[in-house]
Amino acid sequence: MTGRQDRFDLSGRVALVTGAAGGVGRVTVRRLAASGAAVAVTDVEEKGAQDLAAEITADGGRAIGLRLDVTSADSVSEGFASAERQLGGPVDVLVNNAIVACPVPPRFHEAPESLWDTDLDVIVKGAVRCAQTALPAMMARGDGVIVNVVSVNAVAFFGHPSYSAAKAAIVSLTRSLAVEYGGYGIRANAVSPGTIRTPAWDEQIAKNPATFDALKQWYPLGRIGEPDDVAASICFLASDSAAWISGSVLTVDGALTAGNAVMARSVEGS
Ligand SMILES: NC(=O)c1ccc[n+]([C@@H]2O[C@H](COP(=O)([O-])OP(=O)(O)OC[C@H]3O[C@@H](n4cnc5c(N)ncnc54)[C@H](O)[C@@H]3O)[C@@H](O)[C@H]2O)c1
Repeated sequence: MTGRQDRFDLSGRVALVTGAAGGVGRVTVRRLAASGAAVAVTDVEEKGAQDLAAEITADGGRAIGLRLDVTSADSVSEGFASAERQLGGPVDVLVNNAIVACPVPPRFHEAPESLWDTDLDVIVKGAVRCAQTALPAMMARGDGVIVNVVSVNAVAFFGHPSYSAAKAAIVSLTRSLAVEYGGYGIRANAVSPGTIRTPAWDEQIAKNPATFDALKQWYPLGRIGEPDDVAASICFLASDSAAWISGSVLTVDGALTAGNAVMARSVEGS
């Protein structure tokens, strides 16, 4: 974690995070647990999820590690049932975070249909499966929070068209959920990160170790993001501090999408 350790009170809550063994996920579950939530650390990589849950437990938090593959309705419903059984109550806070890092061809017209199928299945249908599984218990209790992790790719072109389109769909889903379930006391929001230093970049970094240095020049705040930048925003949206925030997209991008200084200066210089 970086910076001051601000905490939001999530005691008494059960949180489930998908893709929790990855870069953003692992810091998010640690922060949720440190804020008092009982956490289901779920990932398609079972060992990663279980090892991380064991670390959180050893540090005094309450966590279980589960294999949950968001592309399988059976796996999703089994994962939620296990979380409820082992953590003593249904999921109050759902964080849809899983993605799969696929090799992306350089040009849109070269992308195989299978790439689109994977991104839409993991990102869009995965979030839909998890939300549909979580909602009935949230409706019954009249309380619940869904946080969808999207991306700046949802609002502008930064490469990877299938991933970007899937993330844009989740922005729309966030708004649908917020409006349709607000009457049940359920909130739905999204966080929209820019470049974050996580294993999702490993393949690119292996090809060009200077990738993050090249990218940071585009960020007005002068650096790329760290997983904790996103995790802190997720915990805020999950907490009662965000009690009247629903249907929002919280941009967490070091001002990347706030404007374009290079473009502005090119006009000044003309
Ligand atoms: N890293 C970035 O630069 C960046 C930028 C913007 C948004 N984001 C978003 O942040 C979130 C986390 O990304 P990350 O960088 O930590 O990625 P990551 O690759 O480090 O982690 C993704 C995790 O998802 C898991 N996963 C893959 N397929 C799955 C499936 N079918 N079911 C369940 N889990 C599955 C993986 O095992 C992995 O642990 C994603 O939603 C991503 O779009 C990341």
